[in-house]
Amino acid sequence: MNVVTNFKWIEAANYDEMSKIAATIFIDQLKKNSETVLGLATGGTPEGFYKELVAAYKAGEVSFAQAKSFNLDEYVGIDPANESSYHYYMDHHLFNHVDMKRDNINLPAGIQSNLEKAAAEYEAMIKEAGNIDIQLLGIGGNGHIGFNEPGTPFDVGTHIIELAQSTREANKVYFDSIEDVPTHAITMGIKTILSSKKIVLLIASASKQEAFDRLRSRIVTEDFPASALHNHPDVTVIYTDMK
Ligand code: PGA
Repeated sequence: MNVVTNFKWIEAANYDEMSKIAATIFIDQLKKNSETVLGLATGGTPEGFYKELVAAYKAGEVSFAQAKSFNLDEYVGIDPANESSYHYYMDHHLFNHVDMKRDNINLPAGIQSNLEKAAAEYEAMIKEAGNIDIQLLGIGGNGHIGFNEPGTPFDVGTHIIELAQSTREANKVYFDSIEDVPTHAITMGIKTILSSKKIVLLIASASKQEAFDRLRSRIVTEDFPASALHNHPDVTVIYTDMK
């Protein structure tokens, strides 16, 4: 199916500029509404974005004191204290350096006796917060958003997913070996992501060229999860040279 996309495409000169443009969008949103509900992402791509947010906070340009956040995903079975966890990543790259209140920080729990229940509760918390005002996304080489791997139905909320082998391979750099990369994750669903009011997608590495081209093709299919974003009215894609 071909659709007319509302995407706003911004080509940045380089990685740093991409990070700055994205950070400016989030900072402007926080200035407009200090109680913004942030949707946050992990991975290599947004590291520069978080550096920019921390620098802006330290320069007194922005405060997170009234903001709330929900992260996209977490590995199943990885302790929050583990350096490979997304809890750890977020503390390290953002939360330890800004004035977010701990009570306002939310990440899905990867260690729970009843993961399905934890997923449903996470989904309910997002709704209760009035949904996410602005959601940051990266994209997997296979087109995943959050950890919604190819084939994930577009109409499910936060859930448990089996990671694609290509995702485990791509993320093994963060673990001692491929065997240590979890097989499952808890992730916001595509339905959750689409309920965000505004979405900012960052694309920056050579391994994402094919995903970038598929997104450009505007063909919407569950085989390519990011294509669901064409159904959202306010998506900004900030990309930079992928060579
Ligand atoms: P990356 O991952 O930013 O580490 O490339 C993005 C993703 O897989 O969603």
